[in-house]
Parts: sequence; C-alpha cells; structure tokens
Amino acid sequence: MEINSSACTLALILFFVILSYLAIAADDDKLGASFIFGDSLVDAGNNNYLQTLSKANIPPNGIDFKPSGGNPTGRYTNGRTIGDIVGEELGIPNHAVPFLAPNSTGEAIIYGVNYASGGGGIMNATGRIFVNRIGMDIQVDYFNITRKQFDQLMGPSKARDYIMKKSIFSITIGANDFLNNYLLPVLSIGERISESPDGFINDMITHLRDQVTRLYKLDARKFVIGNVGPIGCIPYQKTINQLSENECVGLANKLAGQYNGRLKDLLTELNDNLPGATFVYANVYDLVLELITNYDKYGFSTATRACCGNGGQFAGIIPCGPTSSLCQDRDKHVFWDPYHPSDAANLLIAKQLLDGDTKYISPVNLRQLRDL
Ligand SMILES: *[C@@H]1O[C@H](CO)[C@@H](O)[C@H](O)[C@H]1NC(C)=O
Ligand SMILES: *[C@@H]1O[C@H](CO)[C@@H](O)[C@H](O)[C@H]1NC(C)=O
Ligand SMILES: *[C@@H]1O[C@H](CO)[C@@H](O)[C@H](O)[C@H]1NC(C)=O
Repeated sequence: MEINSSACTLALILFFVILSYLAIAADDDKLGASFIFGDSLVDAGNNNYLQTLSKANIPPNGIDFKPSGGNPTGRYTNGRTIGDIVGEELGIPNHAVPFLAPNSTGEAIIYGVNYASGGGGIMNATGRIFVNRIGMDIQVDYFNITRKQFDQLMGPSKARDYIMKKSIFSITIGANDFLNNYLLPVLSIGERISESPDGFINDMITHLRDQVTRLYKLDARKFVIGNVGPIGCIPYQKTINQLSENECVGLANKLAGQYNGRLKDLLTELNDNLPGATFVYANVYDLVLELITNYDKYGFSTATRACCGNGGQFAGIIPCGPTSSLCQDRDKHVFWDPYHPSDAANLLIAKQLLDGDTKYISPVNLRQLRDL
C-alpha cells in the first residue's frame, strides 16, 4: 500500500515534470512578438485614427475578417493581411495591435505592434495626396516609444532578450514611393520632374538603410523586408492606362525591378555589417507575378478585375466602399480592390514566405528565421 502510493506520487511528479518541459519546449518554438512596418498592404487600422483620404474602415472591407465578425477594421482587404497570417502561423495568439489605437497599451502590446499606414512610404513626401499618413521615419519613431514600454512591462534585461531573440520585424514598403510619389501624373507633386529614376531609387535605399539601422539600435535583430510587387499589373494601373487583360504597365514594373535589385544588395550589405542581425529578403514581386500569370492554376477566375471597386473595364479606379460593385466569389479574385490582394491571395503569398525556398524568401524562410 505504502509503496504503491509513493510510486504513484513519483509517477505523478514525473508526469508533471514532462508536461511542463513540453510546455516550455512548445513555447520555445513560438514567436514572441511581431512588429509590422509598412503601407496599406499591412495596415491593420492605424489610418482609422488619422484625418486622411486613405481609409479602409468602411464596408465591405473586412467582410471575411473573422475576429471582427466581418466588420471593417481598417485593413485594406476582405480578410487578413499577410502580416496577420504570418503571425498566426508563427504561433502568436493575437494579431499585432495598431500603434495608434487608444487601447494598444500595457499587456495588449506583448504580441506585437503594427505601425503600418495606408499611403505611407520610405520617403517622407510620399502619400502627400492623402493629406495624412505615417511614413517610415515616423513609424520608427513610434517603435522607439514601444521599445520603452517593453522595458516597463518586462524589465530592461528581459525586454532586450525578447526583442532580440523572440521578435520579428517585418517591413512592407516602397510601392507608394512610386505610385503615390514618383509616378504621379501631377508633376508638381511627384518627384519625377527633378530626379532621374536612379537618383530617386538611390534616395529610397539611403533612407531605408537609415531607418533599419535605427531599428537595429533599438535591438531589432530578425528582419524580413518585402520588395515592391508588380505595381504595373494592379487593376488601378491597368485601368487608368486602358490596358488589356494580359498587359502590364512597363515603366512601373521596371522601376520596381530596379529598386528590388538595389534592395537585395542592401540586405546583403546589412547582413555583413550589422553583427547578430539577420535580414531576410521577401520576393513579393515574383510571388505576386506568379499568381497573376498562372491565376487559374491556383483556383482564381481573374487576376485583372478587382472584386470590390468601380470604374473602367477592371473596376480599378474608385477604391472599395459601400457603393462599389462587389464580386460573387471573393476567393476567386487575386485582387480585392484596385490595389490590394484578396485574403485568398494573401494566404498563398504568406505560405511561401513561411515555408518556401530561396526563390521567394532568402537566405532563410520565416519559420527558420523565427527558430534562429
Ligand atoms: C481595442 O478596441 C477595439 C475597438 O473597440 C477592439 O476591436 C479591440 O479588440 C480592442 N483591443 C484590445 C487589445 O483590447
Ligand atoms: C517628415 O515629416 C514629418 C511630418 O509629417 C516631420 O515631422 C519630419 O520632420 C519629417 N522628416 C524628415 C526627415 O524630413
Ligand atoms: C529614441 O528616443 C530617444 C529619446 O527618448 C532618443 O534619444 C534616441 O535617439 C531615439 N533612438 C532612435 C534610434 O531613434
């Protein structure tokens, strides 16, 4: 009797030791926090708090976003952004909260903060036509505020460890520097009148180098930086340039390609020069172009028409809102609106970033980046 009960106790203790070991092990391969910088591709509601012409907190945006019950949140898509999906897959219990939301304080920031802003760019002047937006310089200033909040929440030493080892910094920016700056037809607003493409792209790279170096100084170590997608192939560009289904705007894609080459070199340079940091290059350009070119292979019925929008042959002029025409089958459109991919497309893109090979994500994929 005596022996039996102590054997039993021993077994129980062993059981709990194993359980807690498993819990720690399980916790170890989960991402701590996701810090998201960028533009409308990953904005999760910051522009709701700005006086701006670029907003997505109107239906039917968010119609497939489960956490809000289909109500708009400020995301420029029908469901989740790539940042949301990547966070879910890497084991974060909640989506990173928008920095400007008044309740993004205290414990709410522990799984990460989103600084992205529709209309924002690398250059400070980008997106001026929307009146207000948060550019990258300011997004980094905001992270500086968050960084101090983590010191208060966890204590400086634990916070530093958490930011350096358990957090991923994603940056999705640059498209607006072309679409809503350099390429703007109004020459007085765009930079094209005063600068060559090479000069403008050089400025972008110089600014981005400063911005990520500032994040590094604030203890960011695991970075993923997206290149600029095929902006000449979005419904907006196809519509205003009156192209046919299979055509894209050459100049826009050429500028994106030129910038992307420089970005790749920059990340190689930063990997060499900033000790302990890993910079991952996300080849969004080729990923999205593959979806557009072979859309039927992935179960889409069109890569040209926006699901939600109005104007021209591809519903590509007026942003998505309550008076827009809305497609029947949202999963069959690569593009949700004139600019942004649908949830279905974002899911395919996110999967490649998480588990894909060096064609799309290099030198490591996001699951490997988390586990470094
Ligand atoms: C903050 O408020 C928004 C809007 O009321 C709500 O949807 C969200 O869940 C809240 N977030 C947190 C972390 O409490
Ligand atoms: C960028 O613009 C903001 C205002 O939107 C301003 O406060 C800031 O100083 C500008 N930064 C640079 C580098 O010009
Ligand atoms: C962060 O803010 C402090 C002031 O609170 C400033 O001294 C420091 O230079 C800032 N760091 C970066 C990288 O911007």
